[in-house]
Amino acid sequence: MPAPQHFITGAELDADRLALLLHRAAALKEAPLSSRALEGRTVALVFNKPSTRTRTSFESGVFELGGHPMILRPDEMQLTRGESVRDTAYILSRHSALIGLRTGDEAELDGLAEHATVPVVNMLSPGHHPCQAIADLLTLKEVFGDLGGRVLTYVGDGNNVARSLAVVGDIAGVEVRIAAPEGYQITDTPAKLYTDPVEAVQGADAVYTDVWVSMSDDESSAAARREALKDYAITDELMDHANDGAVALHCLPAHPGEEITESVLYGDRQRIWEQAENRRHAQKALLELLVSAPADEG
Ligand code: CP
Ligand code: NVA
Repeated sequence: MPAPQHFITGAELDADRLALLLHRAAALKEAPLSSRALEGRTVALVFNKPSTRTRTSFESGVFELGGHPMILRPDEMQLTRGESVRDTAYILSRHSALIGLRTGDEAELDGLAEHATVPVVNMLSPGHHPCQAIADLLTLKEVFGDLGGRVLTYVGDGNNVARSLAVVGDIAGVEVRIAAPEGYQITDTPAKLYTDPVEAVQGADAVYTDVWVSMSDDESSAAARREALKDYAITDELMDHANDGAVALHCLPAHPGEEITESVLYGDRQRIWEQAENRRHAQKALLELLVSAPADEG
């Protein structure tokens, strides 16, 4: 059987498909009910971890495309009673056009993608958050137009969000820089790595941050993380070192007083709330692309 096209890390996109996706996302934002790409189809959305934005944007987005979002929580599924990921993939594939999964276990995502016969979308895993990254690029495109050559500096913990920004930003021709303290940096990335946030934001068009303690991090490490990352916050002063007109971004949820100040979070230079709305528009374009894409003959 031909393999379905998945969206696990963001690297599945090439520059042309990403440009098309962002173009479609902008069109769908203008006319949210203009596509019936999921008419009569069900999308299974499995949340093994908490979510506010991903859940609401996928659920409303699937509805706007004419489809039915089937939200599944682990306590409602036999997975928690020992049913295998493989068998779960077989069943969900028979009832839905696409499966989204948020998980704290990368192997669960890989297993689902291996065995599903419909596209699988990563709605956040410990290593990746590609749905966030496409919304972030849509937000940058709205502000700056062409993305090629723009500079985005991520400041803080080198986590799933940072990794996906680096992957997807690179495909779009954005120079992604990551400023993180030693021990908190990602490896094996196209991003330019820094330890000094002030140096990293020189010439930046966007300054981005995320939480210091992610859902997959051990809570017992929280105090050490906060101490190590305390100089890696977006403040008005840090924004002053970036380009004139630079915007502040955050995937949310935010912790004002930790990785971002309240004045930036609610201030004039942020595009954070638009960025959160853009989750829906970007994901709708992604869903359109995946359900209409011819499957790989691999
Ligand atoms: N940014 C993001 O994915 O938020 P949620 O965890 O609320 O879905
Ligand atoms: N890095 C965060 C992102 C939340 C949207 C986490 O994984 O918890």
